[in-house]
Amino acid sequence: MVMQPEDIRAMVDAPEVADNLMQRASIRRFEERPVETEKIEAFVRAGQQAPFTGQMYSVIVTTERARREELAGIFGPLVTGAPVFALVCVDFRRLEKFIAARGRTNRTDDLSMLFLGIQDAAYMGQNMVLAAEALGLGSCFLGAAPFAADQLREMFFMPSRVYPLVGLVLGYPAERPGPRPRIPLECVLHWDTYQDLTDEGVERALDVMDAGLIREGYYRRLNAKIPLDEEGKDELPADDDYGWGEHVSRKYSLLRLSGIRDMLSRSGIDTSGSGEVQG
Ligand SMILES: Cc1cc2nc3c(=O)[nH]c(=O)nc-3n(C[C@H](O)[C@H](O)[C@H](O)COP(=O)(O)O)c2cc1C
Repeated sequence: MVMQPEDIRAMVDAPEVADNLMQRASIRRFEERPVETEKIEAFVRAGQQAPFTGQMYSVIVTTERARREELAGIFGPLVTGAPVFALVCVDFRRLEKFIAARGRTNRTDDLSMLFLGIQDAAYMGQNMVLAAEALGLGSCFLGAAPFAADQLREMFFMPSRVYPLVGLVLGYPAERPGPRPRIPLECVLHWDTYQDLTDEGVERALDVMDAGLIREGYYRRLNAKIPLDEEGKDELPADDDYGWGEHVSRKYSLLRLSGIRDMLSRSGIDTSGSGEVQG
């Protein structure tokens, strides 16, 4: 039997907590009304209450229209349509000041620091998302940040040892999408030992994802189809054949995202193992 959101709701003492987790969906259309400053402070503070290893995070928030229009060049038009933009950053700098205040130097290598710092910032980001929901707000992460670090560093005067992890738009929702599908639990939950997914399991999982997202018209409405070649030519006969399987396989095989190692280096973070950084 497949566990459904209502099964989880029935198991918990506070059903609204289950709804907060299981009914959440990314929001991409917002009302124009601004978000109160105290609500912004509240969801950032709640974000901070996430588990941490070194509190290696900073959040840069902007509500200025001109700034959001500039950011749309990096993150797309969602930023102009949302009243609040937050940039969640991995921040080694402040932790290193704390270490220095006790007369020591950070000698952990930067790749290890990144593994830990990304966790601090990511758990904080997701806590902010859930807190924002509880405050009546909707949100959507925007993933371009680490690939646009040079530009973001200049725009926000980010010093060395601080690196942008993810953007987040927030506001009062002007849409109420239902929760979106996930691959089946048995693909993810391994009892006692790792169970490699069979070919049939792969097809079953992709069917679940495709069915849910094609039904919603997800990629068509988002205009998020990744074209097969630079001219945008596409062999798929109809938009409705473009589901999650097609999207992730195109995303990770065709887009060839890269450049992070060099941008990290320009932010004073060395993952090459050579111990040399620029700037
Ligand atoms: C790191 C990260 C980057 C993301 N980047 C984008 C983005 O650039 N644009 C967008 O519309 N959604 C983005 N999303 C949202 C995902 O598309 C969304 O969470 C996923 O499709 C599942 O949908 P749901 O959040 O409604 O359940 C991102 C999510 C994460 C975690």
